[in-house]
Amino acid sequence: MNLEKVLAVEHYTDDLFWFRTTKSDAWKKKNFQPGEFTMIGMGDKLSPTRAYSIANSPEDDYLEFLSIKVEDGPLTSRLQNIAVGDEIEVSPKAIGTLLLRNLEPEPCINGNGRLWMISTGTGLAPFLSLARHPEVYEYYEEVIVTHTCRYNAELVFRKELEQAGAKVYQTVTRETPAEGVYKGRITDNIRSGLLFSNLGVDPLVFDKSRDRIMICGGPAFNNEIRDMLESVGWMHGTMRSPGDFVQERAFVETIET
Ligand code: A2P
Repeated sequence: MNLEKVLAVEHYTDDLFWFRTTKSDAWKKKNFQPGEFTMIGMGDKLSPTRAYSIANSPEDDYLEFLSIKVEDGPLTSRLQNIAVGDEIEVSPKAIGTLLLRNLEPEPCINGNGRLWMISTGTGLAPFLSLARHPEVYEYYEEVIVTHTCRYNAELVFRKELEQAGAKVYQTVTRETPAEGVYKGRITDNIRSGLLFSNLGVDPLVFDKSRDRIMICGGPAFNNEIRDMLESVGWMHGTMRSPGDFVQERAFVETIET
């Protein structure tokens, strides 16, 4: 079992926190790629391990993660209490489908590529890695990260993403949006065209010849947006067969809640 030491913890709300751990020599064998996830546990048999997307760059000598807190969740009821100096289990074998190479590259070759990273809740985490890494800006002319949460306080990392060069579109669904934040589920705002008009993008729909989409969030959101895209002929990409969009679940939300 690979143990990593907790270096920092930040609690944003009663439901959301962030933490940074060491990145031991075990990662030297094979580093992670932006967008991948790994398994995290408490280092004992009392809690299960869960999949967590890595939220920082492979070049960093530490690892960062976002997590929900579920009061009686088998893992997060304990994980939410970690403190600097504690050790937790982090598998050094990252995997996942949210990889740039799983997207069909025609827009990149044509020099007009626009990459959308669409997230709900802690589904933002893999995009914190991807959209803060220089590689994505070598391929895509424009990178847009969308993040939808219930409450404004959960909309984290906007400044960091903008500093890296991404456009950020945030929405909340259960309270009045703060300044610069919009209202509504992202799926509704895509359907109505609001997403595009709010961003000043014309036409008010995704364009398969230039847009590529990465998706990460809760199960209901994931299913809904996948159905939306597939019903108009968009193809999910894999390593064997790159497509127009790729999708990963924000795993812990699917299991702990
Ligand atoms: P809502 O508040 O309307 O349920 P959660 O905290 O439950 O994981 O949700 C994160 C965000 O995802 C919330 O803003 C939630 O909106 C939104 N959401 C939930 N289900 C869907 C769905 N089927 N399509 C789009 N957004 C969704």
